[in-house]
Order: sequence, then C-alpha cells, then structure tokens
Amino acid sequence: MDADLDLLVPGPGRRLPERPGEADLVALLQRERTGPHVRANMVASIDGAATGGDGRSGSLGTAADRRVFAVLRALADVVLVGAGTVRAEGYRELPVAPHLRDARAAAGLDPRIELAVVTRRGDVPADLLTGARPPLVVTGAAGADRARDAVGPERLVVVPGTDDPDSPDLGAAVAALAARGLRHVLAEGGPHLLADLLAAGVVDELFLTTGPVLLAGDAPRPVTSAAGLAPPRAARLRHLLHASDDTLLACWDLRAPVGRAPVGSGT
Ligand SMILES: NC(=O)c1ccc[n+]([C@@H]2O[C@H](COP(=O)([O-])OP(=O)(O)OC[C@H]3O[C@@H](n4cnc5c(N)ncnc54)[C@H](OP(=O)(O)O)[C@@H]3O)[C@@H](O)[C@H]2O)c1
Repeated sequence: MDADLDLLVPGPGRRLPERPGEADLVALLQRERTGPHVRANMVASIDGAATGGDGRSGSLGTAADRRVFAVLRALADVVLVGAGTVRAEGYRELPVAPHLRDARAAAGLDPRIELAVVTRRGDVPADLLTGARPPLVVTGAAGADRARDAVGPERLVVVPGTDDPDSPDLGAAVAALAARGLRHVLAEGGPHLLADLLAAGVVDELFLTTGPVLLAGDAPRPVTSAAGLAPPRAARLRHLLHASDDTLLACWDLRAPVGRAPVGSGT
C-alpha cells in the first residue's frame, strides 16, 4: 500500500554516539570505491528554506548537521560546488577535520580534498586563488578562457554542453573528474547547480538535513530551477537519523527502483 507509514523515530534503531574517529558514521556513509559516485548534501528548514536570515546555509545547520557534513566531506575525493555558493559562503581550501584524517586514509583517499567550482562565466572568486593550490574549474565554452587565466590549464575541466556549449555537460564533468581519480563527488549545491545535476541524472544520493526551524519568507528551496524537473525524480529513503535537538538527517537513494510513479508526476 502506497500510503503506509513506518515510524522510524523513535524505533528499535541504534544510537551512533559521537566518538573520536566516527567509526559508526563512517561505516554508515562509506560507499564502494568503484565507479563515479555523486552525492549531494543540503540543509533546509522545516518549511523548505535553503538559506537562513543571513542568506547563507550555515545558519540552518546544527551540531548534528555539522557532524555528518564533516564525515561526508572526509569521504569525498572532490567537493563540487556552484560559483554562486562559493561567493555566498566564502569557500576556501577544504581542510579534513583532524579527527577524521585516519578514517580518510583508511578509505584510501588522498589527504587533500579537491574543490571543483562550476561556473558558466569562468568567474573564479579571487579568495580561492590565494591558497597553495587553485581549485579545479568546471566550465563550458564561454568561460574557458577566463577560467584558464585564473587557474591555469591543468586545473581546468572544459566540457561544453551539446545543446548549449556555454553550459558545462555535467555528466561529462563527472566523467572527467573520475578520469583524474576523483570518483567520489560531494556536491554541496547551491540550489541551481543541484537542479542541473539532477536534470543531468548524475546524482546517486541526496543527503538532506531538516533543521528544526520554520522561516517562511522567499528563500530558495534546496533544489531550484525555473523549469522544474521533468519528469520528477523519485527517491527511496536509505536512512534517517534523528538527533536529540530534533534535526532530521535523511539519505535519499536516487538510483534504487521505486516501483511507483513519483509523487508529483500527476499519474
Ligand atoms: N541549504 C544548503 O544546503 C545550501 C547549499 C549551498 C548553497 N546554499 C545557498 O544557496 C545560495 C546560492 O544559490 P544558487 O542556486 O545561486 O547557487 P549556485 O548554484 O551555487 O550558484 C549559481 C551559480 O553557479 C554557477 N552554476 C550553477 N549551475 C551551473 C551550471 N549548471 N553550469 C555552470 N555554472 C553553473 C553559475 O556561476 P557563474 O555566474 O559564475 O556562471 C551560477 O550563476 C546561497 O545563498 C547559498 O548560501 C544553500
């Protein structure tokens, strides 16, 4: 029956206490290192706002969200992020949390997390160019020259789209990152890039944290596009964590067969 509900929390479940190396969370969140694997991680309020009053996502995050977020980053080869989010959130080089360095090494990952910025215009925020290593830049035809000037040819991933050469082909981008050995991709938004990644069919899992707050207002949703996703993407709940402050942390599997029409498809 389609409308059956499972009460997940409270339930038999089990507690994942905060421990120095986060062994329990690492076991829950780690995936096989075979082909490319793309997971997206977003946070929203109960009513679906993807930014808090300061126009950023950080103010929606809770201790539980930061705990899972740190493990997701520590298990990624590369963090893929839209240039708008880089600008809004002030991205810099991505350190691995010290308590997760051993877990990262045990997973066979490079000690450094790569950062890949997606931009049509090739506009790489200057703050990202002051560190020891510039980010990778994923772009299309229009942004290639400007991005090359900023980061150099070695750090450039130019993947012109078929219909619109100025927009990067995100499937080709994931393949190009994998060819560099960057198979485990963590997409950290923003909402427009996530919509494009979903439309391109490259997202395997969506980690969506719901912070225990209502905001109303006109903040973007975690996935935002003018056209919407057609057809809607169905998902299966892979796990749901409940934190003591009532943060809910869901992992949605976008590859598992759902055996029903997606909610919202009108069928
Ligand atoms: N709740 C959360 O978890 C979360 C996560 C991330 C961000 N945010 C918030 O979301 C807001 C930003 O939203 P946004 O949707 O504008 O972010 P975004 O998708 O990161 O930024 C849009 C910009 O990124 C580039 N971009 C996005 N998709 C692209 C594509 N398919 N191809 C090429 N370039 C692409 C373009 O950059 P160019 O202009 O350089 O071409 C575009 O202008 C911020 O307030 C941020 O704090 C929230």
